[in-house]
Amino acid sequence: MTHRREFLKYLAASPLLTNYSAFAQEVEETLGQRLTNPRDVINVFEMEAVARENIPPAHLGYLNTGVDGDITLRANRDGFTRYQIKPRRLVDVSETDTKVNILGSEASSPIFICPVGSQGAYHPEAELGTARAARAKGHHMVLSTQSSTAVEAVAEARGAPIWHQLYPTTRWEYTVAMLQRAEAAGCTTVCLTIDLPGGRNTETQSIMMREDNRTCTDCHRGQSKPIFDGLNMQGVGLNNPALTWDVIGRMKEVTNMNVVIKGIEVGVDAALAVDNGADAVWVSNHGGRATETGRASIECLPEVAAAVNGRVPIIIDGGFRRGTDIYKALALGASAVGIGRPYCWGLGAFGQAGVERVLDLLNRELLITMTGSGTPTLESITSNAIHDVGHRVPRGTLGRDLL
Ligand code: GLV
Repeated sequence: MTHRREFLKYLAASPLLTNYSAFAQEVEETLGQRLTNPRDVINVFEMEAVARENIPPAHLGYLNTGVDGDITLRANRDGFTRYQIKPRRLVDVSETDTKVNILGSEASSPIFICPVGSQGAYHPEAELGTARAARAKGHHMVLSTQSSTAVEAVAEARGAPIWHQLYPTTRWEYTVAMLQRAEAAGCTTVCLTIDLPGGRNTETQSIMMREDNRTCTDCHRGQSKPIFDGLNMQGVGLNNPALTWDVIGRMKEVTNMNVVIKGIEVGVDAALAVDNGADAVWVSNHGGRATETGRASIECLPEVAAAVNGRVPIIIDGGFRRGTDIYKALALGASAVGIGRPYCWGLGAFGQAGVERVLDLLNRELLITMTGSGTPTLESITSNAIHDVGHRVPRGTLGRDLL
């Protein structure tokens, strides 16, 4: 047993498995293909293990990769250890409420679906499976520019207004065309991603691609995403390195959608976003897939919350795997918390049913945390519920999620 544990720790530290917890590895070895019913999956780490059985290595590599040595990717998980929960007792928690309304979008829970591109790579149901799960469970959804499925079809499957994530491209008229198409499809908010001005180095993806013996160009040749229909993307960059803060005003001239700025990591930028007219600020390091900063998303939240000072809602993503993680972000000033990889593991494992299971698991854990901490409503979760240790707790002294 001791040897096996050591081996699992070694595996978790190996570059091939950088975003794969020792716990998930252990689950795969002990339960593996026996988890054939989503209801038998007890947490998102197990869902990752099941997804590993189903998703081809190159696609899983795309989903799970960070950049360079995946330092930020890991930091997103480790950062939560810095914050501990201070539960209050003998509060009436017999009635709970997790309903939210962010910029007019109502949801049953503060947990929302983050934009993740190319979901057809994980399951044939793709974004439609995700949207139907979001609809079934009443969760808010943000669709990626890089969606494998057309925005109109996803909006219809969700059955309520979705938001659209936008890569600005290097051609303004294309940006305008995409904004107008998203708005015509019923999207009420556009989330401009600003954290990838100069490309990135996705090493884990490259390593995992070596394990895949299929020829990528058999499927990927000439492929384009539906949002680019009618736009000649040849020579056009997805990200525009020349963008500056005036882009918010320019977007507002051509769309009535709310504009959210996604990819804020420091307080001064959060203030600039608000000063330039952003309707909400999205704290994100792109799931550790943009700049290799080494800072966890959750660690950026307090300074952003201080800079925003209640002027607009703050939403966040990055490494959320437990109800307690979500609770900590709510306490530190977020109004809603996005998940990306976990629901894609659910999608890869079981299609729509897997996404629903992931949402159920995280909602259940969040509710347990809320009732257990004497905070039965989202409004009652304040900074008083959190103790900042001031540093991350080292790996190895933690529960199995972070071994
Ligand atoms: C897309 O946003 C990606 O991170 O691959």
